[in-house]
Amino acid sequence: MKALILYSSRDGQTREIASYIANTIKPHQECDVMNILHVQHLDWEQYDRVLIGASIRYGHFHSALGRFVKNNVAQLQQRVSGFFSVNLTARKPEKRTPQTNGYTRKFLLHSPWQPDSCAVFAGALRYPRYRWSDRVMIQLIMRLTGGETDTSKEVGYTDWQQVERFAEEFVQMSGKSR
Ligand SMILES: Cc1cc2nc3c(=O)[nH]c(=O)nc-3n(C[C@H](O)[C@H](O)[C@H](O)COP(=O)(O)O)c2cc1C
Repeated sequence: MKALILYSSRDGQTREIASYIANTIKPHQECDVMNILHVQHLDWEQYDRVLIGASIRYGHFHSALGRFVKNNVAQLQQRVSGFFSVNLTARKPEKRTPQTNGYTRKFLLHSPWQPDSCAVFAGALRYPRYRWSDRVMIQLIMRLTGGETDTSKEVGYTDWQQVERFAEEFVQMSGKSR
């Protein structure tokens, strides 16, 4: 049986985290990584473990996340499953747990799927890559929340050791009998 990692990513940080987790899992278990937007028909029988990661944009996860969860809730519940969210609020360590990160807490509260493990990772701030209107908005948010406001900068806040620990714990979780 293999592990499956699905991600929703706009600027690539969640995709990078998903690849990092896959590389951590691979010595233990074969692992496929897919963009949740591109998944059409999944052969669930290949997988006994599934992880979903998604980033936040203007307060929301991509709508594909909710759709996927709704359509696959039984398959998700039957497997060892995990969820990770990626956002800039989590650059502050006190906002980096499922309980203290508002987006993640809200997702778990309303989700019909309750993952067995959950993490919140700080994302990346990449001003030069944003279009003008996003750059202005993000700069405003950063000014209000005491973050980086220099629009020439790219800053990665992801704690890769936290990601590695989460991946190691996830792959060690004992399987579910179906
Ligand atoms: C246009 C835009 C809107 C964003 N909105 C939020 C937000 O509302 N809250 C937050 O914490 N982070 C926000 N972020 C930060 C992203 O979640 C962060 O950059 C993350 O690394 C993006 O991951 P991705 O590259 O996988 O999409 C925003 C970023 C962009 C570019």
